[in-house]
Amino acid sequence: MLKFIEESTAYIQSQIGDFRPQFGIILGTGLGKLTEEIEVAFTLNYSDIPNFPLATVEFHKGKLLFGVLNGKKVVCMQGRFHYYEGYSMQQVTFPVRIMKLLGIERLFVSNAAGGLNPTYKESDLMIIEDHISLFLPENPLMGENIMGERFPDMSEPYDMVTVEKALLIATQNGLEGIHKGVYVSVAGPNLETKSEYRLLRMLGADAVGMSTVPEVIVARQMDIPVFGISVITDMGIPEILQKAELSRILEAAHKAEPTMTFIIKEIIGSL
Ligand code: HPA
Repeated sequence: MLKFIEESTAYIQSQIGDFRPQFGIILGTGLGKLTEEIEVAFTLNYSDIPNFPLATVEFHKGKLLFGVLNGKKVVCMQGRFHYYEGYSMQQVTFPVRIMKLLGIERLFVSNAAGGLNPTYKESDLMIIEDHISLFLPENPLMGENIMGERFPDMSEPYDMVTVEKALLIATQNGLEGIHKGVYVSVAGPNLETKSEYRLLRMLGADAVGMSTVPEVIVARQMDIPVFGISVITDMGIPEILQKAELSRILEAAHKAEPTMTFIIKEIIGSL
């Protein structure tokens, strides 16, 4: 595995020369707009990178972008790999390992999620303060231990200084519908039943989604501070649950994109 990661990294380095990204960004479903804010220096197609998993969902463009965002050098995954697409946990987190070898100091992740907290509404944002993994028994660290600790600490998976900074940015700029909460990951790809939404809420989660946790676990194993943000694309309140439609989920994501982009840009600029 390590050999594959090193091979991919060497290829990427041969393409980007001495460009050294300081921050890594992984964008979730329907949340690609942030890339428009990046002054792109290099674009690599996933399909050209040796050993890289290939994007399957058509609305994911499958590109690794290198460029400058608000004055800082970043590497941005346009389209992530989901477990429900059939990738192994190792494949899902493969790009995070590569980003580490490329030298990133922080990781920013975004996702589309269902709201469990009844005070949330569609197109709100949730700054992730903690997570619950329900990918069990799957875990990206299972098997041979590469690049990090065997039993990594998870007492603060999301850097709380950055969480507070994000909330302050929201207040100072009069942004509404910005929350702080707990993300629970499920395998998907089906959405939840009413009873499952009720259960997940009882577990203490504020939003549910099908990604993010594997990448965060791997980043934390390698001691990379993480900032995560969920866009609430639909509400999972059992009593008033509506039939989910992908078009509506994507529309809700698009509506929240400018605010999400603004927050991430501000944080990156301030670091
Ligand atoms: N459940 C799980 N994943 C999701 C949801 C949801 O309601 N909305 C967006 N991603």
